Amino acid sequence: MSQSFDVAVIGAGPGGYVAAIRCAQLGLNTVCIDEWKNPQGKPSLGGTCLNVGCIPSKALLESSENYERAAHKFSSHGIQVEALSVDIPVMMSRKEKIVANFTGGVAMLLKKNKVASMHGRGTLLKRDQENRASALWQIEVTNADSVQTIEAKHVIIATGSTPRTLALAPVDNERILDNTGALNLTEAPRRLAVIGGGVIGLEMGSLWRRLGSEVTILEALPGFLTAADEQVAKEARKIFTRETGLVIHTGIKISGITTDEQSIKVEYADVDGNAQKLEVDKVIVAVGRMPNTVGLGAEDTGLKLDERGYVEVDANCRTSLPDVYAVGDVVRGPMLAHKASEEGVAVAERIAGQPGHVNLDAIPWVIYTSPEIAWVGKSEQQLKSAGIQYKAGQFPFMANGRARALGETGGFVKVLADANTDRILGIHMIGPYVSELIAEAVVAMEFAASSEDIARIVHAHPSLSEVLHEAALGVEKRAIHI
Ligand code: FAD
Ligand code: NAI
Repeated sequence: MSQSFDVAVIGAGPGGYVAAIRCAQLGLNTVCIDEWKNPQGKPSLGGTCLNVGCIPSKALLESSENYERAAHKFSSHGIQVEALSVDIPVMMSRKEKIVANFTGGVAMLLKKNKVASMHGRGTLLKRDQENRASALWQIEVTNADSVQTIEAKHVIIATGSTPRTLALAPVDNERILDNTGALNLTEAPRRLAVIGGGVIGLEMGSLWRRLGSEVTILEALPGFLTAADEQVAKEARKIFTRETGLVIHTGIKISGITTDEQSIKVEYADVDGNAQKLEVDKVIVAVGRMPNTVGLGAEDTGLKLDERGYVEVDANCRTSLPDVYAVGDVVRGPMLAHKASEEGVAVAERIAGQPGHVNLDAIPWVIYTSPEIAWVGKSEQQLKSAGIQYKAGQFPFMANGRARALGETGGFVKVLADANTDRILGIHMIGPYVSELIAEAVVAMEFAASSEDIARIVHAHPSLSEVLHEAALGVEKRAIHI
């Protein structure tokens, strides 16, 4: 007889494993099915985020930032470093230890919460639609050793995403790399092309630039970082070009990539349509990600996918099938780990009869470049195109004591508030540690704060948070230090 569960979660990324733990906390008998294997061929929980995404990329960004500081910034503090060198294999093994620690940690958390864990590909089979009250979904779990069928009353699909491919640039993870290959190099390529100037392109481009590569970013769109507020994107492009040393070409169209023993030649048309050729040693392809629905059983069960292949869901993450939910990268909305996890929690709570909720309008974005970029809510261009009247307050890190002490003075914080009600509509940041500062902005937006609320809150001195305080004061033109 098949094993029977209240909830089967397919996928153990930050959407799936968090949903499974929350289900178990709420007393639901839960199984989490995942097919990820690490390079040693062992099951490894945590999905993209822990294995080849958020965690390894941030580990390497931190290491490379330390090297950059020692090479270029320590001397202004009077610290001289003689014969500085970098050992990239050591850096990689540090990253791998962090990953192994976290992926093993997820396995322990599932065990501690009594979530059953199954390794293999989960495929949703048909269920008896006539008899809904007693009907259970059948899920086939296939791995190298066995094919098992389990059954569950509720299913949460959390199968995540994989890199979008470019026919012209087939990834081999030796010379043409996706995010997995880009996080595994054992030496810095002398010349590196990054196709796609989005979040991964900028983070990976910064990482390898700091470790010594000449990096050229080739972005198809004429604009730069179009997801961000225009003013932030403009400031970022200026700093990345002048200080970070990234070469950024926007509005390009790749026409061919040829490889020979010496190099890789990337041919493209520039923004004016002129043919260009770039010779490099490695290429990173980072042109977006696609939802993982292949082999999930969508065709046989009638699970509705949208025109781009995402599982179609309503505001409560309900799919077209009864008692089947989907969360994270495989559904609409930003492809971010914290968004996936919060959707997982909300769905678990709904299954348990509670009112779970995720506010997609208050999801923070962070790009871990140097300086970092972070935002929540609407950008100026979004407010303008929606015809919403707003006021803006802005304050630079240059005028902040803590930023001066850190020696990280580039960037600013901008607060956008409704012109009539003063309710905060968006907060945009570029500067040091804004990945941490954005939390205050998210809390403010979730509590429907006005710019005056932030302006009247006491912020510690000297701290980077004073930049947000002054930007909020700036909405009514009463910033003090500018
Ligand atoms: P995933 O993490 O993709 O997990 C899905 C899991 O399901 C995988 O283990 C997969 O193997 C498994 N699976 C798929 N199909 C099946 C099946 N049929 N049966 C069984 N298992 C299956 N986000 C951030 O918020 N912050 C960051 O700093 C950040 N950095 C990133 C850096 C990189 C290089 C990349 C690539 C991504 C980054 N992201 C970041 C995005 C983040 O990783 C994703 O948004 C997040 O992992 C999505 O979580 P998920 O649970 O929806 O899917
Ligand atoms: P992305 O959508 O951020 O950027 C892809 C870029 O590639 C776009 O600017 C697009 O215009 C460009 N592009 C597409 N086709 C192209 C082509 N043929 N030639 C040149 N450029 C082309 O996607 P990316 O960087 O792959 O990252 C995927 C997702 O992963 C992100 O959107 C984000 O959700 C998540 N992520 C989040 C991070 C974070 O939170 N710090 C870090 C890394 C990834």
